[in-house]
Amino acid sequence: MKLLMAANWKMHKTRAEAVVFMRELAGRLSDLPEDREVAVFAPFTALGACSDALEKGARVRLGGQDCWAAEQGAFTGEISPDMLRDCGCSLVLTGHSERRAILGESNALVGEKTAFALASGLDVILCVGETLEQRELGALEAVLARQLEEGLAGVPADVVPERLSVAYEPVWAIGTGRTAGPEEVLGAHALVRQCLRRRFGDKAAEMRVLYGGSVKPENAAQIISLDNVDGLLIGGASLQVESFARIVTA
Ligand code: PGA
Repeated sequence: MKLLMAANWKMHKTRAEAVVFMRELAGRLSDLPEDREVAVFAPFTALGACSDALEKGARVRLGGQDCWAAEQGAFTGEISPDMLRDCGCSLVLTGHSERRAILGESNALVGEKTAFALASGLDVILCVGETLEQRELGALEAVLARQLEEGLAGVPADVVPERLSVAYEPVWAIGTGRTAGPEEVLGAHALVRQCLRRRFGDKAAEMRVLYGGSVKPENAAQIISLDNVDGLLIGGASLQVESFARIVTA
């Protein structure tokens, strides 16, 4: 299984800034090891420009940070999986904790988006993770199980396992500078794998489980060396080519 190293730019970068980044990144990754895949989740407005900036054969995949669960229609402000594909995307994030917390997305809605995006031909990274309060109440396992059960409810059993990944992102580690320690990552990733196995059987072994939350060039190598960690989802440290490239090749 290839490691997936993914940048989540959130609401950052104009088209011009994104293009400079993509060109520099492609240059930096010319000798990317074969066992790694790189993805950039850019804001919707920069996706077309990013796609145009990537040369044919560039080993950087593009993704949307969210999508709506319909092909088209009266959904003001929303973007469909087909529109993302039209901008050069092959991936999408669903259920990022900022969308859950700030925009009130429920597990059920995240599940609809996940199933619809996969059916529309996009690969999906479903994001899950507990708040500090939930962890301190001992609810980690229950929270992850519920997010995964509902988030994957509409995904068919015959899904191609490489097309579906889960990002474990503890909410208390996102943008806070506080990374989960090795024990915390190991424990949570084992729980995610267990849930995937319950749902998909042996195929679960071929689904990637990414870690996200204050990943930096300094801690990336240690995190990806842990069991059940098949990649990283990087926010703040993905905004500069230099630090993202160092993480990707860590
Ligand atoms: P961070 O964000 O790396 O800035 O903590 C990660 C994420 O939200 O995906």
